[in-house]
Amino acid sequence: MLCNLPNLALLCMMVNFTYNQINIRLNEEDAMVLAHRITTIERHILDKQKQFPTATGVLTNILYDIALAAKIIARETTRAGLVNILGATDGHNVFGEQQQKLDVFADDVIAKMNDHTGRLCAMASEEHDDIIPIPLHFDSGRYALLYDPLDGSSNIDVNMPMGTIFSLHRKISKGERGTLEDVLQPGNKLVAAGYIIYGPSTMMVYTTGQGVHGFTLDPGIGEFLLSHPDMRVPQKPKYYSVNQGYEKFWTPGVRRYVKWLQGIHGEGHEPLAQRYIGALIADVHRNLLHGGVFMYPGEMKRPSGKLRLMYEAQALGFIVEQAGGVASDGIGSILDIPPSGLHQRVPLFIGNRELVATAEKFIREYDQEWVDAYMPYRNGELAHA
Ligand code: AHG
Ligand code: MN
Ligand code: MN
Repeated sequence: MLCNLPNLALLCMMVNFTYNQINIRLNEEDAMVLAHRITTIERHILDKQKQFPTATGVLTNILYDIALAAKIIARETTRAGLVNILGATDGHNVFGEQQQKLDVFADDVIAKMNDHTGRLCAMASEEHDDIIPIPLHFDSGRYALLYDPLDGSSNIDVNMPMGTIFSLHRKISKGERGTLEDVLQPGNKLVAAGYIIYGPSTMMVYTTGQGVHGFTLDPGIGEFLLSHPDMRVPQKPKYYSVNQGYEKFWTPGVRRYVKWLQGIHGEGHEPLAQRYIGALIADVHRNLLHGGVFMYPGEMKRPSGKLRLMYEAQALGFIVEQAGGVASDGIGSILDIPPSGLHQRVPLFIGNRELVATAEKFIREYDQEWVDAYMPYRNGELAHA
């Protein structure tokens, strides 16, 4: 159940407001003005829900449940470097369990925050081989949740950004409980998707098909506040992002495409700057704000590349399309690929429309051999180990 208590608390705190450890005293009138301008994620999703008179509020509540899980994960990611100092003795999580690896912890938090609400019929996580059923002693709901609990988890040890990616499908199976069918739907059937980025600050970005909205966590008051309304990919791109270290594995089309991005191949336009963090979520987030293209292409030895269709590519594809960009596997839209397996991998080119369209053009012209190798995976005739 959502209530207005957090907003009320927020309002009270405004009178004696702590920001960046500086105590700011406002008179009540100023506090009212400031509170009026501040939109919490709770208020935002409720306002959006009001635009749909038939909405029951279930989707709204799921998004709020995820925001709460994100705050718990953020609290732990900011202490990641302390684990070795504090050791396991200090390492009890909210469920009273001993400290775990952060990605297992994040996975547990999301599953446990969502398995008993009666809003979901099933879940699927990058960390689990099979779907996560809703325990029989809890009610089953109308949505299926897919998530990558911690994206870019190799960044934990080096204090770099990481993220959580999630998406929601409507239940389509006939029985009371959710099945694989509810989870394995194409991206064009998504009803909501979002991500949380744990960086210098924690941000939550989501879409329910009405634009993309970003919120920044104010750790002082524990609330996600609207900071990036209606995010749009800028027309003029600034960056390309790819693991250049794997160039020797690239197909001829991808090699030429990257040279084109550098302004070396073709008409010789201004080169784009290169940025690669190694956490998809951070790379896509930056390009969403500044314009550009992120790619993790297929290779001859690994025709579908590395990234996962169901936990990474579908959600980000939906978000970036809602922001005016596009996501492709080099053949066509990510959102139109019929999934055949929970852990199916897919090449990904995502960002500004013209940049992604140009990648497809190079692949059409130079990469027929790769296309022939990849299509059986795309069609579900072959599966990667
Ligand atoms: P995850 O941590 O969820 O397994 O994802 C890691 C992914 C993705 O976030 C990132 O873009 C990519 O792996 C980096 O891979 P390379 O190191 O091969 O470039
Ligand atoms: Mn990932
Ligand atoms: Mn992960």
